[in-house]
Amino acid sequence: MGSAAIVAGLGACVPLTVVTNHDLAARLDTDDEWIRTRTGIRQRQVVAPGEATGDLAVEAARRALASAGTDTADAVVLATSTPDRLCPATAPHVASRLGLGNVPAFDVAAVCAGFVYALATASGLIAMRAADRVVVIGADTFSTILDPDDRTTGAVFGDGAGAVVLRAGTDDEPGALLGLSLGSDGSRSDLMGIPGGGSRQRSTGLPIKEEETYFGMQGQAVFTQAVRRMSASVQETVARCGWRLADVDRFVLHQANARILVAVARKLDVPVERFVTDIERVGNTVAASVPLALVDGAVSGDLDPGHRVVLASFGGGLAWGSVALVWPRLGTVQAPALTDAAESYQSGAR
Ligand code: COA
Repeated sequence: MGSAAIVAGLGACVPLTVVTNHDLAARLDTDDEWIRTRTGIRQRQVVAPGEATGDLAVEAARRALASAGTDTADAVVLATSTPDRLCPATAPHVASRLGLGNVPAFDVAAVCAGFVYALATASGLIAMRAADRVVVIGADTFSTILDPDDRTTGAVFGDGAGAVVLRAGTDDEPGALLGLSLGSDGSRSDLMGIPGGGSRQRSTGLPIKEEETYFGMQGQAVFTQAVRRMSASVQETVARCGWRLADVDRFVLHQANARILVAVARKLDVPVERFVTDIERVGNTVAASVPLALVDGAVSGDLDPGHRVVLASFGGGLAWGSVALVWPRLGTVQAPALTDAAESYQSGAR
């Protein structure tokens, strides 16, 4: 068995409660047209009270394992910034609920870039022969950390989880993770985040104010950085694979704003039609964004076996990253919504 990491299964899950732009407009000073034209989002799905990130993660992982034709794995890597509890990590509980026994399981915190960071980490476990099969999950429930009165973040974020199964193989196989590029810029950590609740804020000894427990961001500055960092990262990864941008069939980028995807396409001088997008229905689902878009691309037929694909993400930290692969033939991939689970994609059958 080789030491390359191969995508062998794919799954996702979004919660049942749909919040449309009209629902938001009924309680906040916003409207459907503003949200659609500024972000490309029509609706997002959010967890119900009592539902948590780990619940979505377990379901997405189950579906990814089923798509890989297995129910076992040697490790679980969970990218999330909204763990079930601040401490301990959520991944061990997810692994246990999946019935995986005492496998290594840990969280990766890189906000919206988390899934690409988790893929890189899991590839390292496979390269070190510490694991032959790893479940890599991106899951977040940002609806639980937003200020209910903030129309900007309320319009942008949704909840969800997506997962892939990586298995050991050789780098000439379809699905092998090829070039990778990761980066960060902590000097701009002020652009988004939650001020309170961590060790720094608590070290003042002052009680946390309610507004400091919510996630906030400087939208325009984040937008500019997202375009700049994802474009550069994609270029780096494509160069590391020995590909040209024109060779890439599909770009699966973090779904933060439809206008960011258009701006990146322009910057890279590639047709925007090559960008897979599901933001209209799910919004920005943070660490789940890239794997959810992968599922959407697989189910809709936008991603085909043999396609040269580049995944890229960007988020708080700041942190960003991208990875390339040739899209593999997978077992059945179910649509993410629990409500339309009948819809599915079987690459072998197409
Ligand atoms: N409805 C109506 N108006 C809104 C609004 C909403 N939901 N949200 C913000 N506005 C208002 C602002 O208050 C501002 O009003 P003002 O001019 O009176 O001050 C105006 O719209 C313009 O705000 P601005 O921030 O310049 O809008 P924008 O075009 O940059 O769009 C975002 C805002 C958040 C949609 C956009 O900046 C964005 O998508 N940024 C990236 C977000 C992101 O990706 N975050 C996650 C990390 S990857």
